[in-house]
Amino acid sequence: MSTVRIGIIGGGLMGREVASALGRWFVLDSFPVRAELTAVCDLVEKQRDWFRQIPTVKLITADHRELLASPDVDVVYVAVPHNLHEKLYLDVLDAGKDLLAEKPFGIDLKAARNIAAAAKSSGRFVRCSSEFPFLPGAQRAVQIVREGGLGKLLEVHSYFHHSSDLDPTKPANWKRQVKTCGAIGVMGDLGMHTVHVPFRLGWKPKRVYAQLQKIYLERPDGKGGTAVCDTWDNALLHTEVDVDGAEVPVRFEMKRLAPGETNSWSIEILGTDGGVKFSTKEPKTFWTFKRGKEQQWQRTDLGFHGPFPTITGGIFEPGFPDCFLQMWAAYVAERAGKLDGRFGCVTPEEAVASHELFEAALLSHAEKRAVAL
Ligand SMILES: NC(=O)c1ccc[n+]([C@@H]2O[C@H](COP(=O)([O-])OP(=O)(O)OC[C@H]3O[C@@H](n4cnc5c(N)ncnc54)[C@H](O)[C@@H]3O)[C@@H](O)[C@H]2O)c1
Repeated sequence: MSTVRIGIIGGGLMGREVASALGRWFVLDSFPVRAELTAVCDLVEKQRDWFRQIPTVKLITADHRELLASPDVDVVYVAVPHNLHEKLYLDVLDAGKDLLAEKPFGIDLKAARNIAAAAKSSGRFVRCSSEFPFLPGAQRAVQIVREGGLGKLLEVHSYFHHSSDLDPTKPANWKRQVKTCGAIGVMGDLGMHTVHVPFRLGWKPKRVYAQLQKIYLERPDGKGGTAVCDTWDNALLHTEVDVDGAEVPVRFEMKRLAPGETNSWSIEILGTDGGVKFSTKEPKTFWTFKRGKEQQWQRTDLGFHGPFPTITGGIFEPGFPDCFLQMWAAYVAERAGKLDGRFGCVTPEEAVASHELFEAALLSHAEKRAVAL
């Protein structure tokens, strides 16, 4: 069995999630490739120190060029503020390494296009992060849509809601400022998660009308002062897609201030004959609509069945670390040519398409009109 050696640039919230996923790779049952965390880079010593407890990590550095020069790294995962994506992703490709990029794949459309072009010309294997579609409920929704039987598609609603920003005393961080998060704001933070499944099902918006909100314009800076928060907090994107010759409304919602929602990723796909609903709010529950003599919404407890088999009992509940591991399995399997028709990570083309949508949404909101894509 071959081993893929992984390096992390950015050992913050997500860098540690990757260490967690790789640290329990053995959970994947009969997976054809081994994966191992070998190197970590972060500017901050305290962040670097956390990784010292992981026995496979051979290199810990504050300089990403040192990590990229290491012969013990095949794939690099980069999880840093959005203003650094383009530079670091291009450095990874220049160093001849494969890349699992964090969303939003560059701070704006121009950066995303540059990264996608470099990915293509380098010939390296590049994908972007979006883990929720690997949950059993999301996979079941995709399967049912692909099998047909929903009748005429009525509407699609794909949304990702957070709520901690409801608290005005929550300190600002780089995600609340345009210079580090990007002018697209919450769309850059949460948008990739909402578009992955619709895009993969072939539903690419041809027009968007956007409603964007900035809710708290300043927050504590965590050092006794206040900091300006100039990013969009909530975004509603009303779009249309062509499906079987008809225009179908697809609504994407990204919210940092959604009362009661800690990290709720949800999708609803409704047709005249059938429909599906899944939300991480009820992680085992999958809803199916059937129109018969009587109309019914049926509730199914799905259990633990990701695209990549694991040793976890089939009746157990899946959670965030599980879909994150499944996403990594998809990346490693596809890189090895072993995806075998299963759901794959976001491609560079899909990431660029997401930026095209978000940029059109900025224009739509500014001019209060629908913008063609
Ligand atoms: N997939 C998801 O569910 C998910 C969730 C949260 C964040 N993200 C994405 O992950 C990325 C990082 O977000 P986060 O929440 O982990 O941020 P974070 O602030 O927790 O971590 C970022 C880390 O990058 C380090 N860093 C900054 N500049 C660096 C450099 N030049 N070299 C090395 N390290 C550097 C910082 O010291 C910090 O430890 C962003 O793109 C964000 O949108 C994805």
